[in-house]
Amino acid sequence: MENSENPRETDLERRAFLQTAALAAGAVAAGGALSGAEAQVSQITIIDYKAFPRLPLLAEKPLKPSTLATEGISRKTHEEHFKLYQGYVRKTNEISALLSAVTRDPARANQIYSEIRELKVELSFALGGVKNHELYFDILGGLGTQPQGRLLDEINRSFGGPVAWAADMKATGLAARGWVWTAYDYDLKRLVNYIGDSQNTYPIWNATPIIGLDVNEHAYYLDYGTRRGDYIDAFLRNLNWNAVATRFSQLGAAAGNLVTLA
Ligand SMILES: [Fe+2]
Repeated sequence: MENSENPRETDLERRAFLQTAALAAGAVAAGGALSGAEAQVSQITIIDYKAFPRLPLLAEKPLKPSTLATEGISRKTHEEHFKLYQGYVRKTNEISALLSAVTRDPARANQIYSEIRELKVELSFALGGVKNHELYFDILGGLGTQPQGRLLDEINRSFGGPVAWAADMKATGLAARGWVWTAYDYDLKRLVNYIGDSQNTYPIWNATPIIGLDVNEHAYYLDYGTRRGDYIDAFLRNLNWNAVATRFSQLGAAAGNLVTLA
């Protein structure tokens, strides 16, 4: 609290502590322990509005050599793209630090503008950018691999086969302004190709992506100009189905929802 840059905040916090201390002292002086109700009030009152635990510090995951060797998406594109990913990691860590220190005083929270609103909105953009790009880079670099086993079974069951999956993926990619995710939806109990226009738009809860297709122009403009469809074809050819299968198997083991496919 001592290092607060905002005198008003410091005053508010000090008042909260002083009120609580007075309450506790009064109760003790009056003859003993706090009653249940008083203890509850104390719990609510004793809040350091600027000392919340921060999120884990993120570290960059390096590009794999196989990803850099993707056929049809150049090394230069991946290297430039990776710099954007590094920015998402840096900014996520920066926002996390700010969030741990920003006030939770209800009088300061506001849906039109407030520090906590802006930080939480941008956290969703930055952290979304980290997760989306780590998925994207991880599942590229597998030219010639094919879906097999339980993953192929699920693609057949959900889409009618890999060709139909790819057709839906490409059409969704051409219709998107940012992302397409093939996700296993635990409620629908199938794979679905979900659309995203940004790092943090249209999330579907209780669904986990196992493939991420970045259709932002930075992912292909150097190689394809405006020919996004050709880029998507290259992406589909270079999918590392072994990496996708690993993600799929981890999903099943963790959730226990895929037993019918065993
Ligand atoms: Fe990107």
